[in-house]
Amino acid sequence: MIKKASLEDAQILSRIAGQNSSSAHWTPAGFEAEIKNGAALVLKSCRGGAATGFICCRFVPPSSEITNFAVSNDFLRQGFGKALLQAALKALKQKNVKEITLEVSVRNTAAILLYEKNLFRKVSAREKFYNNIDDALIMKREL
Ligand SMILES: CC(C)(COP(=O)(O)OP(=O)(O)OC[C@H]1O[C@@H](n2cnc3c(N)ncnc32)[C@H](O)[C@@H]1OP(=O)(O)O)[C@@H](O)C(=O)NCCC(=O)NCCS
Repeated sequence: MIKKASLEDAQILSRIAGQNSSSAHWTPAGFEAEIKNGAALVLKSCRGGAATGFICCRFVPPSSEITNFAVSNDFLRQGFGKALLQAALKALKQKNVKEITLEVSVRNTAAILLYEKNLFRKVSAREKFYNNIDDALIMKREL
């Protein structure tokens, strides 16, 4: 199930974000600020009462960007990432957003496959963007 995140979720979302190197390690205060921000969309996925993942986007219609996105290590490959991404696309469309961009490491095959399956395409690259080693891909899709 996908829901809007609330301030009480900030702690758990920060813990999930900290579990891997491909998401931004925002603090609970960072998530709280994002949840309060009127130009941000923060959705969480849940199983039972527990949060299993999140997606954060910033939007200024007609543009938007995925700013942070992760599924908890305990819940990978169970469809939560796909559900979060598709719920975010739907919510952004309702806010008159026409295009969504994101940045992903060329090494992050899982995320790139997920984005490609959801009609994102590679539009450019930023060389040695991560730790002066790995390139970043910029991906985009229209809504
Ligand atoms: C990317 C991420 C959010 C995907 O979440 P998930 O819940 O595991 O993904 P889903 O179960 O919904 O999988 C959807 C599709 O993504 C792709 N995918 C997900 N994990 C994959 C993996 N380990 N290897 C290859 N493809 C993978 C597949 O195409 C999959 O479809 P399929 O299950 O029909 O094969 C998750 O791997 C994650 O949190 N990664 C670390 C943080 C991150 O990379 N965030 C994105 C930064 S740009």
